[in-house]
Amino acid sequence: MTLRHTLGVVGSGTMGGQIAYQAALHGFEVHLVSRRAEGLQSACASSSALLRRRVEKGKLTAEACEATLARVTTSTGFEALSGMSTIIETVAEDRAVKREVYARISEHADEDAIIGTNSSTLGSSLLEDSVSHPERFLNIHFFNPALLMTLVEVVPGPHTAEVAVDHAMEFARAIGKTPVRLAREEYGFIANRILFIAIQEAMHLVEGGYIAPRDCDLAVRNALGWPMGPFELSDLVGLDVVEAILAEGARQTGDQRWEPLALLHDRVARGELGNKTGSGFFSKS
Ligand code: 3HC
Repeated sequence: MTLRHTLGVVGSGTMGGQIAYQAALHGFEVHLVSRRAEGLQSACASSSALLRRRVEKGKLTAEACEATLARVTTSTGFEALSGMSTIIETVAEDRAVKREVYARISEHADEDAIIGTNSSTLGSSLLEDSVSHPERFLNIHFFNPALLMTLVEVVPGPHTAEVAVDHAMEFARAIGKTPVRLAREEYGFIANRILFIAIQEAMHLVEGGYIAPRDCDLAVRNALGWPMGPFELSDLVGLDVVEAILAEGARQTGDQRWEPLALLHDRVARGELGNKTGSGFFSKS
């Protein structure tokens, strides 16, 4: 298998859009695919705005920016994935939705394409029966915001061939990321395994009435050097995503420490999902 500088991204949420533009910045020809035309439009608009800000700040030349934008093509049809060397799926963390998407990807992906799921809660072994070539399927996990965060976790399932792992590592490096390879699947992989238990402890402190979210964030930023405190970070990630990661963690590990607290659950139930809805632990105008 050879890595060609072509990428198909399926799903036009925050992660899919930024992964697409990150690869385009590094010279990849990218096809961004989603069933929702409006999702594609807003993914392109928000990443284009971030890259144009880099031009204003002198971090990117206007020519490089325009060339990057031109390398991303959008499509509502999965046939755009044919000819892509690597395909990354970034759709909702829902097994039924992902299975449907993999059936469509399998219809159009090249014989030698490597398919990565960006899922943070579902190891590829939970989905491998829905892809046509499980040996070329694994988790390739990015962090939010994907245009800035440099880590990519590469996680093979028992079905994944070594050549696919090598391809994923090379792909991550080629788009300017630092990949780490896990020996085998484990819930939360590395970063989320550590991060979400820490976030959960912060939520216990707030729910217990020991501290307010803003002061907890201040403490963590100043004592531990985190760029964002746990509550600001939860708003960035999305409270629905945080709740899903915790709930799935409780299910998959059987460890009650992962069980989401009312503090989080109540906000999600009210539709306060963080930055994407304008309010979560904090309000964003
Ligand atoms: N998307 C893209 N770019 C963003 C951004 C966002 N959400 N927020 C800020 N930026 C950009 C700004 O445009 C700016 O770029 P510029 O200098 O080219 O204009 C640059 O980041 C710096 O912005 P700010 O000075 O406003 O903000 P910070 O210095 O605080 O940096 C940050 C922003 C890099 C997001 C930093 O706060 C950070 O590292 N936060 C922690 C993020 C983190 O931990 N992510 C992991 C979450 S867990 C996860 O993703 C796993 C998943 O499975 C849930």
